[in-house]
Amino acid sequence: MNGDATNMERYLTGNTESQMSRKTILIVDDALENLDVMKGILAPHYRLQIATNGRLALKIALSPTPPDLILLDVMMPEMDGHTVCRLLKQNERSREIPVLFVTARTDAEDEAFGFSLGAADYLSKPVSPPIVLARIKTHLAMHDQKKLLADQVALRTAQLQIRNLELEETRIEVIQQLGRAADYRDNETGMHVMRMSRYVRLLALKAGLSESEAEQLMLAAPMHDLGKIGIPDHILLKPGRLTEEEFAQIQTHAEIGYRIIGKQRSEILQLGALIALTHHEKWNGKGYPKGLRGEEIPLPGRIVAIADVFDALTSVRPYKKAWTVDEAMALITKEAGQHFDPRLAVLFLSLRLEIEEIMEQYRDQPE
Ligand SMILES: [Fe+2]
Ligand SMILES: [Fe+2]
Repeated sequence: MNGDATNMERYLTGNTESQMSRKTILIVDDALENLDVMKGILAPHYRLQIATNGRLALKIALSPTPPDLILLDVMMPEMDGHTVCRLLKQNERSREIPVLFVTARTDAEDEAFGFSLGAADYLSKPVSPPIVLARIKTHLAMHDQKKLLADQVALRTAQLQIRNLELEETRIEVIQQLGRAADYRDNETGMHVMRMSRYVRLLALKAGLSESEAEQLMLAAPMHDLGKIGIPDHILLKPGRLTEEEFAQIQTHAEIGYRIIGKQRSEILQLGALIALTHHEKWNGKGYPKGLRGEEIPLPGRIVAIADVFDALTSVRPYKKAWTVDEAMALITKEAGQHFDPRLAVLFLSLRLEIEEIMEQYRDQPE
């Protein structure tokens, strides 16, 4: 069972023709005469692997060329067949290989135990060649079917996942475009959302959010003024000072945007809705719609507030010329702790160079 056995332990037999298309069967038995009987029955039909003990059987089953089916003797010294079967079934890589126990014991309880370990079937010794061949053929066919089905399920699942991703992307794109459309109404170039969403990303990273969180915020930010769709032109585009009622109407855009986006499963859309609702809240509690104060205002709302105001200030609007970066930064400084989260305001000031690069890159095109 040692020195000499190593030559015996693993070898291939069988005819040479169409070896490739043949299924491989691993025969595990410590008795050479049993191995000879099985080889005699199976060699004309299958490629064979031989193991004379449990350890070697496991090694072959986990090798790069595992068998399609295993015939496993129960009574073996050192590691018995039950143990081998349990270890095979515990391992992801060998779990699916059908195991047929071959045993002289025909005790019903023993068989039940084998099945409980995950065995596919029992063959009793002495074996009858036609029965052995028929059972093996059946189990190989069943296994092929199972594999085919599992492959199909995996393929369908992958296809569905891709489809869901596409749907989610489309939904986000549609709502972002809607945000841009809303922006076009009072800001003809549509560059405002391009710039401010990039400021948002910069500031989020500086505030310690992860790359992917910052990315999500950037994608959600263009939805902030979606609710302007619900504001009539004569108010939204009015060049002069707004009356109190008109200003109250403008303020409804926060809640309108929140409601248009609605409850969504997509994280980006949830974030968009949150930003629409909270981007006009102020640190000192004097903002709208809820008059939230300090850290009651969700972080995305606080970040967008700074980016949004900064870009509005540095852009030309029908009622005002563009402020210089100095002027806008001075206002951010002045409003730190009033309108804006003071910590974020300081971080924003420190990003001046990067902000100016974005301004340069996404300048309003003259008509
Ligand atoms: Fe707004
Ligand atoms: Fe805006």
